[in-house]
Amino acid sequence: MTTRTPFIAGNWKMNLDHLQSIAFVQKLAWSLKDAKLDYGTVEVAIFPPFTDLRSVQTLISADKLPLKFGGQDVSAHDSGAYTGEISGAFLKALDCEYVIIGHSERRTLHHETDEKLAAKVAAAITHGLVPVLCVGETAEDLEKHGPSAVPVAQLRGALASVKTGANIVVAYEPVWAIGSGQAATPAQAEQVAAQLRATLAEIIGEEAASATRILYGGSVKAVNIAGFMREANVDGALVGGASLDLAEFSSIAQFQKHVGT
Ligand code: PGA
Repeated sequence: MTTRTPFIAGNWKMNLDHLQSIAFVQKLAWSLKDAKLDYGTVEVAIFPPFTDLRSVQTLISADKLPLKFGGQDVSAHDSGAYTGEISGAFLKALDCEYVIIGHSERRTLHHETDEKLAAKVAAAITHGLVPVLCVGETAEDLEKHGPSAVPVAQLRGALASVKTGANIVVAYEPVWAIGSGQAATPAQAEQVAAQLRATLAEIIGEEAASATRILYGGSVKAVNIAGFMREANVDGALVGGASLDLAEFSSIAQFQKHVGT
């Protein structure tokens, strides 16, 4: 059986400017150092706004901090006349390891379709970035189609051109749970994560599917993280609101202290 390193990711969305990002990352690193977090057993990543990335990169590299980071979106294009877009090549040049693709806010507010997201996933992989692909159903989808039909269809759509063995992270984020304070139950998250893993096996092969981290996202907090992490197919969390609260996010990263209690 493949062992998957748990992954705790903070999606800052459009919060914290570059100066605030430096202060936050410094304090987060101190907090996790004080807590003696073993980074061999959990990967901690932050996804700040694009304008913070250079500052975050400089700090992490200068202080040799064991934190990972990435962008919140990427262009499907490499370069050219695409005003406002950011190329995967630029993110890679800033040492980003990951990039979030297909967050529900991008799907809804920017009308990002499965085809568009497939092109973004391909661009990320071309530039050596690991896509953190977000999928999830609305409350209406849940009522109409049940829990996993929409996330599974979104997964197939966005991974249409991905090859066997691809290195990706998948985040299951039910839209009704994002920012609502009403998280899915661990059993609900596990049910969909298991379906996503089975689908991944068809797309990227058994071996890569069993190595893929599947995260849960949607109102994750320090008080509920342990329940999700106990599930067999849930390997981490994509945290929005709580990732902006230093004590909360630090505590979520230390989920091992809560699991088993
Ligand atoms: P939330 O957001 O933790 O604030 O619900 C999660 C996300 O949007 O990734």
